[in-house]
Amino acid sequence: MSSSASVPALRGAPADADALDPTVWPEGAHRDQVGRIVVGGVDVETLATRFGTPLYVVDEHVARSRARRTRAAFERAAASVGTSATVYYAGKAFLSGAVVRWMTDEGLAIDVATGGELAVALAAGADPARIGFHGNNKSVREIERAVAAGVGTIIIDSEVEVLRVADAAARAGRVQRVRLRVNSGVHASTHEFLATAHEDQKFGIALGDAGRVVAGIRSHDSLDFVGLHCHIGSQIFDAAGFAESAERLLAVHAELSAVAPVPELNLGGGFGIAYTELDRPAPIEEIADGIAHAVAAASARLGVPVPRLAFEPGRSIIGPAGITLYTVGTVKPVPTDEGWRHYVSVDGGMSDNIRTAMYGASYTVRLASRVSDEAAALVRVVGKHCESGDIVVDHDWLPHDVAPGDLVAVAATGAYCWSLASNYNHVPRPPVVAVSGGAARVIVRGESEEDLLARDAGLPDHDDDAHGVTA
Ligand code: LLP
Repeated sequence: MSSSASVPALRGAPADADALDPTVWPEGAHRDQVGRIVVGGVDVETLATRFGTPLYVVDEHVARSRARRTRAAFERAAASVGTSATVYYAGKAFLSGAVVRWMTDEGLAIDVATGGELAVALAAGADPARIGFHGNNKSVREIERAVAAGVGTIIIDSEVEVLRVADAAARAGRVQRVRLRVNSGVHASTHEFLATAHEDQKFGIALGDAGRVVAGIRSHDSLDFVGLHCHIGSQIFDAAGFAESAERLLAVHAELSAVAPVPELNLGGGFGIAYTELDRPAPIEEIADGIAHAVAAASARLGVPVPRLAFEPGRSIIGPAGITLYTVGTVKPVPTDEGWRHYVSVDGGMSDNIRTAMYGASYTVRLASRVSDEAAALVRVVGKHCESGDIVVDHDWLPHDVAPGDLVAVAATGAYCWSLASNYNHVPRPPVVAVSGGAARVIVRGESEEDLLARDAGLPDHDDDAHGVTA
């Protein structure tokens, strides 16, 4: 589960600091006649009044249509080279009951990375046979639970896991379908990929060890080996890295196929999105075609049937469907070497979006409750946490008169913001509201101060017994 930390290229002042770039904002987002941003048919002022800020807002229609489009792209590309494709939605990007239902309704399978994600997917009614279960350190309990639930595939991540999964399946009297996660030596991050002999990270096993480990898997009657799995990174803008990785994997896939048929190849997720106007990811159809053709060409060269393909996109489906709404609390002009920088403090911060602090991610911010004729000012959107690295948007431009009480919206926060949220500084996590066709509904309840206090077993008026402190 890799990520890229890119140094943000400095963005110049936009011609119109109120404009909503359609590549960055949820499809259909626009301003109403009084200048308020409208998402899913609901204006931000209504949302803020009803649900408060900070607020995660997800456009259900956009999430569903991106899921549908992704599935269609991979299915069509696979069919064009004589095979089929399964698209798993990578739940780590953002998983909740509603999202599981949207994705499964749209015909996607679900990829989970922990017992917790598995529990959400199962509770939401996902077909266990269409769940892939990942993780580099699954507990035996998690494995047992996945086997008992009838999870479609378990992705084995290390040699020691072969026996753990085989034993759990044998105890349950089942034959468990498994994939093996390998490192192709291709690591990709935005705009470029790096190909090396080995990857220095915790996931999977070296490609060179796959033969031995698969032989081990095949020696267990309780395991059914369906294919290799590889995830090369995140926020990748074109097919080149996937194609390089697929070629390396297929060489080993062909060796494994010489012993017994290997029906599948899972190439993971990692398709990029536009966080700012500088990001230009290729359309998913182009990426799907590029990968399918690389797989077909390598299969032909190696003399193996084109395997069924599987993919696990998370960010590219849910990321662009989400925005975060904040209320501005203070605006502070600070002189810097590059001129004045306006620090715009909002009522959330690194607890609802850690990506800027953690990965140097870039985001786009817009005044959301109104438009303004004022010239654009260089801003840094910061949160309310007790930390100077508490930055939500490193730099962008807002009208000069941005002021306390204004609503601002940050685009493309649908992936890895809620799922990485924390309670740092005892800030409660905001709710997630789904908007669609002019209606809004809470899909994940926000935390209250009571929620925060409820788990603190050391508070004087807590009944220790009720909170499980005493034996
Ligand atoms: N499959 C596997 C095995 C993965 O490890 C991941 C992501 C995905 C699929 C989905 O990747 P996506 O399509 O969403 O890029 N927290 C980081 C991203 C970590 C990605 C972890 N693995 C971020 O906020 O950028």
